Amino acid sequence: MSDKAILEYQGKKYEFPVTEGTEGELGINIKTLRSEAGMITLDRGYKNTGSCESAITFLNGEEGILRYRGYAIEDLAEKADFLEVAYLLIFGELPNKQQLDKFYGDIKEESEVDEEMKKILDGFPKAAHPMGVLASLTSALTAFNPGSVDVESEEDMYKAIVKILGKFPVLVAWTQRKKSSLPLNYGDDSLGYVENLHKMMFEKPGKKYNVDKSVIEALDKLLILHADHEQNCSASTVRMVGSSHAGLFASISAGISALWGPLHGGANQAVIEMLEGIKADGGDTHKFMQKAKDKDDSFRLMGFGHRVYKNFDPRAKIIKKSADEVLNGLGVEDPVLDIAKGLEKEALEDDYFVKRKLYPNVDFYSGIIYRALGIPVEMFTVMFALGRLPGWIAQWREMRLKKEPIGRPRQIYVGENLREFKPVSER
Ligand code: SDX
Repeated sequence: MSDKAILEYQGKKYEFPVTEGTEGELGINIKTLRSEAGMITLDRGYKNTGSCESAITFLNGEEGILRYRGYAIEDLAEKADFLEVAYLLIFGELPNKQQLDKFYGDIKEESEVDEEMKKILDGFPKAAHPMGVLASLTSALTAFNPGSVDVESEEDMYKAIVKILGKFPVLVAWTQRKKSSLPLNYGDDSLGYVENLHKMMFEKPGKKYNVDKSVIEALDKLLILHADHEQNCSASTVRMVGSSHAGLFASISAGISALWGPLHGGANQAVIEMLEGIKADGGDTHKFMQKAKDKDDSFRLMGFGHRVYKNFDPRAKIIKKSADEVLNGLGVEDPVLDIAKGLEKEALEDDYFVKRKLYPNVDFYSGIIYRALGIPVEMFTVMFALGRLPGWIAQWREMRLKKEPIGRPRQIYVGENLREFKPVSER
């Protein structure tokens, strides 16, 4: 196979090198396109454009494959825990016991949040959406940890990484407790990373905290399934902001804002609201399927479709199976689970969805589990952000270590040509 691509335009030919990835993906390197041909490419939504070469996560959308650093998501969800997966994504290898203990120890050392941060939290109305609160608090970490901003060495990057891994669960818990009018607390770092988070989120003043082990296992698995997804909207945002050397916390804060959108991570909240709406409307899934297909109707089947997966999202398969297990294990009946399964069945047999290869994605069933675990619906996307934190960190670290240039796309200008200014008296 030729390792060059040729572009012919107005009788002239231009050659560009082709890069082949370790899984056979091919990319035309157009580094010299503008200087040689005087042209740029145009690609709305970057549907066909690669922003980087990355060794973190591999997706095959046609076959529904997802691997973190070469490990199948099915294996990791079944056999690993979230902190191990965080280490794997960030540093590239599964940790041995000594490495994992040191990693968690360093994280625990950094799990205090400056008391002054509570004043920022106090400033928010109780009705504020937790994603907006979390994005602000995460950005504010920069003010209290100025040494974590312009980090150049791997050692300084590591310090910033363990800081945010230590403080983020506290910010997540405080964000939820603010909405529930509960006192802001700290957990118990003799517990594991995920159980400690759960304790901080749910313990009640004066009450003994205990939790069913199956709840922590389900939460741990959900966080693993959300941990990274190559160059999705929020990861690309983290890379873009990080490429200006704005620092890890500011970059993560930007990623949180990108994830908030209902077309991205905000879909897990939108799915439950959609399912509740269908239930309240009498449960007629067929009526809503027609709405989803009607171009004149803004209604979309939330939790369906994906930019990359044109097959089942492997995470959706695992979460759907886990939803049944968790609800049965907890003895929870949730009527919207049956509505979700009904929608999925109908969509998989409907030409509109089949032709466009629209399948359930990671957000379609996750909210049903979060709800069964007692997580408020407005916190669903916050849980997605917590899961995605290691992935964002890994993407940021890879980008900084490779010394990628500042991200600055081009455009094709389609506005007015030069025109003469006229004073207001002549307009
Ligand atoms: C996540 O990128 C990632 O990896 C993201 C993520 C991650 O882990 O980071 O996987 C997490 O964000 C999952 C996606 C969550 N969002 C939703 O569930 C919202 C509903 N889905 C859609 O809005 C949509 O499918 C997107 C945003 C996910 C993907 O949009 P694309 O790739 O831009 O596709 P498109 O909008 O061009 O759709 C192609 C066609 C269109 O119809 P035609 O113009 O060809 O006639 O499919 C239709 C769309 O109208 N379509 C849908 C639909 N999704 C696409 N029609 C009805 N319901 C839907 N959900």
